[in-house]
Amino acid sequence: MKPLNIGMLGLGVVGRGTWKVLNDNAEEIARRAGRNLQITSVAVRDEDKARQWLNNDVHVTTDGLSVVRDPNTDIVVELIGGEEEAFDWVMEAIAQGKHVVTANKAMLANHGNEIFAAAHKKGVMVAYEGAVAGGIPIIKAVREGLAANRIQWIAGIINGTTNYILSQMRAYGVTFDEALDQAQELGYAEADPTFDIEGVDAAHKLALLASMAFGIPVQFDKVHTEGISSLASEDIVHADRLGYCIKLLGITRRNGEGIELRVHPTLVPTDSLLSNVEGAMNAVLVEGDVVGPTLYYGQGAGDLPTASAVVADLVDVTRLHSASPDHRVPHLAFQPHALSDVPVLSMAQVESAYYLRLRVHDRPGVLSDISRLLADAGISIGSMFQQPYGDEQADIIFLTHQAVEGDVDTAISQIQALPFVLSEVIRLRVEALL
Ligand code: HSE
Repeated sequence: MKPLNIGMLGLGVVGRGTWKVLNDNAEEIARRAGRNLQITSVAVRDEDKARQWLNNDVHVTTDGLSVVRDPNTDIVVELIGGEEEAFDWVMEAIAQGKHVVTANKAMLANHGNEIFAAAHKKGVMVAYEGAVAGGIPIIKAVREGLAANRIQWIAGIINGTTNYILSQMRAYGVTFDEALDQAQELGYAEADPTFDIEGVDAAHKLALLASMAFGIPVQFDKVHTEGISSLASEDIVHADRLGYCIKLLGITRRNGEGIELRVHPTLVPTDSLLSNVEGAMNAVLVEGDVVGPTLYYGQGAGDLPTASAVVADLVDVTRLHSASPDHRVPHLAFQPHALSDVPVLSMAQVESAYYLRLRVHDRPGVLSDISRLLADAGISIGSMFQQPYGDEQADIIFLTHQAVEGDVDTAISQIQALPFVLSEVIRLRVEALL
């Protein structure tokens, strides 16, 4: 059978990884796909640089649209990253009737609904395994492997940079800035790591996971997103003393009439599976009603792990290339006409346990006043400890039992107004998970 021709947009870290994997494992890949896969054209910013990597028979150009519109291109692989230009090229590829493989989570989080609708209408596939958790086949697992289940929740460490930073802070007591510098030196964090450390990258991925888990449209704008840049080292130390470590988690869960959708630093028990995911590794826990808990672990970024996902998508697209569009896996796991409008809940409706830390004047009645406000809001204290700060002040740390966040907000604002409270009340969420 004639080889399938790939037009690639971008030859950065993942693009070069994809080139390498397609060459190194060409025979094995062809045995799986049923035909050869070959990169025939590549669009790049710097043609000379690209030539150092590619064979002479690959057409290299700076004109991405020419690759997308080339009648010889069967599949467009979009690896330029960023949002708008990638979106334009992907939409043009779809309009040209080409299948698309992309690892671009920002583009899909922001424009996924439009892209998938256009692809469905045109009868082409848009595959995106590399967009979530790099080399972990989590999209395959959620979309296909768990198709029998009503998925209850997903909780994942889906940003390697922040997991590396938190691991270093906890293990070696380094500051956030020192750990971030290390992450950049090691190539985990971007030169501009804002999306990583502010939780935006994890929120992009979570919006896609939630959509596939619950059959809802992609709703990145509704993800509650908190990063780790303002996380204090002392909270990592206090959490450790309480038997927890802090991870940046993406959590999505069915809760009453809606879906929780949130990314934030989270205390998880030190003996839980997720707490043992260290460094830049990713892990995703998925709980289905039939299967129970399942865990997926691996490298969430990097040239070869992400290329592993991109090439797996290429094999899938190749196998299903000539299948009727109705026989392919729906982009968001559920048939497009069967997507649900179940609402995403506000944070006030979320249920979690909480870690609270505040500094107070150390004098009689302080603890009882705070406890009363928590009790009045219906919040039960699980444990607490106090640490002196100088002669007359103390830091108090509470762990609550499960509570509704709106009630916790109320209690915090009342506690904050007490005359003996000297600091902002720090609030972190606590999840037992597995
Ligand atoms: N910057 C991302 C991370 C890369 O740290 O996980 C993969 O999306």
